[in-house]
Amino acid sequence: MQNIVSPSILSADFANLERDIKLVENAGAQWLHIDVMDGHFVPNITIGVPVVASIRKITELCLDVHLMIENPEKYIEPFAKAGADILTFHYEAAKDVEELIKLIKSYNVKAGMSIKPKTPADVVMPYLNDLDLILVMTVEPGFGGQKFMYDCAEKIPFIKQNAPENLIIQVDGGINAETAGICTKFGANSLVAGNYIYKSDDITSAVKSLL
Ligand code: DX5
Ligand code: ZN
Repeated sequence: MQNIVSPSILSADFANLERDIKLVENAGAQWLHIDVMDGHFVPNITIGVPVVASIRKITELCLDVHLMIENPEKYIEPFAKAGADILTFHYEAAKDVEELIKLIKSYNVKAGMSIKPKTPADVVMPYLNDLDLILVMTVEPGFGGQKFMYDCAEKIPFIKQNAPENLIIQVDGGINAETAGICTKFGANSLVAGNYIYKSDDITSAVKSLL
């Protein structure tokens, strides 16, 4: 089965966002990864609801929104209404994981949960049947262009063994053709990549090398 490639626009040119989205869309990427950071959960500030709403108008790609924010429950409705197809919150930021999953699904949006590098894989166990996606971070969240942490990828086989067949296992951070291969062997089937795609001289080939 083909991998789901989700280029991270964090590494795109924000002054030419439509052009950069069309490039990955035409190259065969199925999703678009949108990193939302609040300057509290992570030490960086990126983009918010209005940008997601504008992107929704110019692409049919599945909008894969990664919420690196505190109090995620406050922002589910606005991001859902802006057109997100997947909302992935962080386990470390969630007060009540079950309620948050229910809230996301109540808007007909797919629910994802992410774990940071130091969070053990077994915390996901109680939620595997309710979630649509688990995101295993392979860098500390906050910035693009960091080095892949192999130890984090080693959490994937445990999750894969315990997960229902249709659960999507995504990796994010330091993904390139080589590290993607490690992750897919372990059982990941959705690959986020920022720098590897957008800082490449040949964006089309970079996307295709991950498919
Ligand atoms: C990091 C973000 C990533 C980032 C990945 O906190 O969640 O999505 O854009 O960038 P690369 O692929 O360059 O590591
Ligand atoms: Zn991300």
